Amino acid sequence: MVEVRIRVNGTTEVVDLEPRVSLLDALREQLGLTGTKKGCNQGACGACTVLVDGERINSCLTLAVQYSGREITTIEGVDHPLQAAFVKNDGFQCGYCTSGQICSAIGMLAEHDAGMPSAVTEHLCAPETELSNGEIRERMSGNLCRCGAYNGIADSIQEVTR
Ligand code: FES
Ligand code: FES
Repeated sequence: MVEVRIRVNGTTEVVDLEPRVSLLDALREQLGLTGTKKGCNQGACGACTVLVDGERINSCLTLAVQYSGREITTIEGVDHPLQAAFVKNDGFQCGYCTSGQICSAIGMLAEHDAGMPSAVTEHLCAPETELSNGEIRERMSGNLCRCGAYNGIADSIQEVTR
């Protein structure tokens, strides 16, 4: 067992865990932050997305010990207009993917603001300032929704970019 200091949603938690424990399992099982969901547990669905220092990551693919001292934000620590937009635009059905979708969208918007292009960006040296529906769908393609709420998810993200 090793002692790990996990800084999450503005507070520091000290937990003893095995070095092989994923950040996702540490958040859910050690810290009780069950808003972050386990879907595939192998990096394919995005349900486990959290923010680390503002960047989106799949927490199932990372070890908790790697993130000692980093600033982690889970859905429990999110206060963003996207949450109301998801409600307004039917951005979910069962809701299982939603916390990952929202954390991922926050990270994605920051990437876009920083000028990062996507696979469908036409002009790589001058990415469009406005996110088209196609850009949003491409940039969010790592987050699957088994309920197929993709239209509402894209509309919700588009709404907060206007
Ligand atoms: Fe992490 Fe699916 S649970 S990507
Ligand atoms: Fe059910 Fe996305 S709302 S999986």
